[in-house]
Amino acid sequence: MAKQKLIIFDTTMRDGEQSPGAAMSRDDKLRIARQLERMRVDVIEAGFPAASPGDFESVKAVAEAIKESTICGLARANEADIRRAGEAIRPAKSGRIHTFIATSPIHMEMKLRMSPEQVLEQAIKAVKWAREYTDDVEFSAEDAVRSDSDFLCRVFEEVIKAGATTINVPDTVGYSIPSVWGERIRSLIERVPNSDKVIWSTHCHNDLGLAVANSLAAVLNGARQVECTINGLGERAGNASMEEVVMAIRTRSDLFDCETGVDISQIVPASKLVSQITGYPVQPNKAVVGANAFAHESGIHQDGVLKHRETYEIMRAEDVGWTTNRLTLGKLSGRNAFKSRLNELGISLASEDAMNKVFARFKELADKKREIFDEDIHALVSDDVTDPEDDYYKLIAFSFHSETGETPQAKLTLSADGHEVIEQSSGSGPVDATFKAIESMAKSGSELLLYSVNAITTGTDAQGEVTVRLMHDGRIVNGQGADTDIIAASAKAYLNALNKLHAGKEKLNPQL
Ligand code: KIV
Ligand code: ZN
Repeated sequence: MAKQKLIIFDTTMRDGEQSPGAAMSRDDKLRIARQLERMRVDVIEAGFPAASPGDFESVKAVAEAIKESTICGLARANEADIRRAGEAIRPAKSGRIHTFIATSPIHMEMKLRMSPEQVLEQAIKAVKWAREYTDDVEFSAEDAVRSDSDFLCRVFEEVIKAGATTINVPDTVGYSIPSVWGERIRSLIERVPNSDKVIWSTHCHNDLGLAVANSLAAVLNGARQVECTINGLGERAGNASMEEVVMAIRTRSDLFDCETGVDISQIVPASKLVSQITGYPVQPNKAVVGANAFAHESGIHQDGVLKHRETYEIMRAEDVGWTTNRLTLGKLSGRNAFKSRLNELGISLASEDAMNKVFARFKELADKKREIFDEDIHALVSDDVTDPEDDYYKLIAFSFHSETGETPQAKLTLSADGHEVIEQSSGSGPVDATFKAIESMAKSGSELLLYSVNAITTGTDAQGEVTVRLMHDGRIVNGQGADTDIIAASAKAYLNALNKLHAGKEKLNPQL
């Protein structure tokens, strides 16, 4: 019997963006959206248009660019949010509005300060407003996990009557466990009148590490849409991770009567892209996309795999995109080859001028590093999309001295708003000395929450990609920098974070 379709709804650019410091620019979102389209993801939640003018523009740009996936905008259940989302998705070939309101006693009473009747009324109105823009309207009952079942059934019955076409049941706080969540979905589908007229969806958070397990339980009990993110990015402990959901459904196709349309060979490239853009590294032992996911360390395992791969492998690394790094370009590659590789990677630069700058940096890198891989190109562009010309702080030059028995020293020439300054500092190591020199110039008073270094590709000539997470006045930003010189990459990452703090690009969190 033919399998039913399981809709994959990606919310990396909305819920994923709610991870501290993971805010994405319009260009970042376009690059991720193109990768998701290439992966044949069904629905892309591109953002929350009412959150900020920037996010409105991002959702609109994604709606204009993407043709093969449905583009969705999130809206609280109020008229202004919905009209904003409606405008943002208007250019989409296929557009969806996702509206939500909380239905649990604690949220209604303590957060919304609304009675259940008022919530019900608002939910109905919201769906009707959304239907003025599109026939594809999703309704979510926020904190469904802690909502009263009878009330939830009533709300869902009424929003279906009002025109909702997808009903999403979120475990907003990651509180459920698989058997309970599966049962919840089954009972809602059984009890809500006209449940067969809509797609049932689930949206699980990972506070107890059960987001994927709960999502799969929902699928086994009738859900036909899973909301998930690349690398499990998302609010607090994150959302269900797309790569795990997709690979579980496929690998255990003996247990599921549905299948996704995702092109799994795009999973690893998508994971790397999202990690590079957000600065959230992927833990090495992460399922499917972690660097060790297909590594066999013990002799017994290695022996088994060499004799017969399936002894210890349930999936094939190359199927999910773990090809050996593909050599793309080198020192002798010309501008056209570079441009066409950017196109193939779905990267479009805003202007000829931006292209000239990125190409010049590519040549500089090719001088230092013999082989340039796709990952290097992504890093080059990540460095550039924010247009460094507009940066408040810039690194002009640096030197450092480190010797056994001596205190490491760093000397940096920096520019702040066009004024050059030289700062010198010592520290417990060259990176510490570099950060102290930057701080003595910027005097930001920020707290360093995270410093991480990853090699973008293999080999000692690989570029190091550094992430720096800073907190200032409760605001958290991630800065990234890539260079074959780790100290330069670190300085760039710190300055990138300071520039973000300086630009003050905040967004409204829809769940607050
Ligand atoms: O977790 C949640 O409840 C959400 C909703 C907006 C769907 O993200
Ligand atoms: Zn969520």
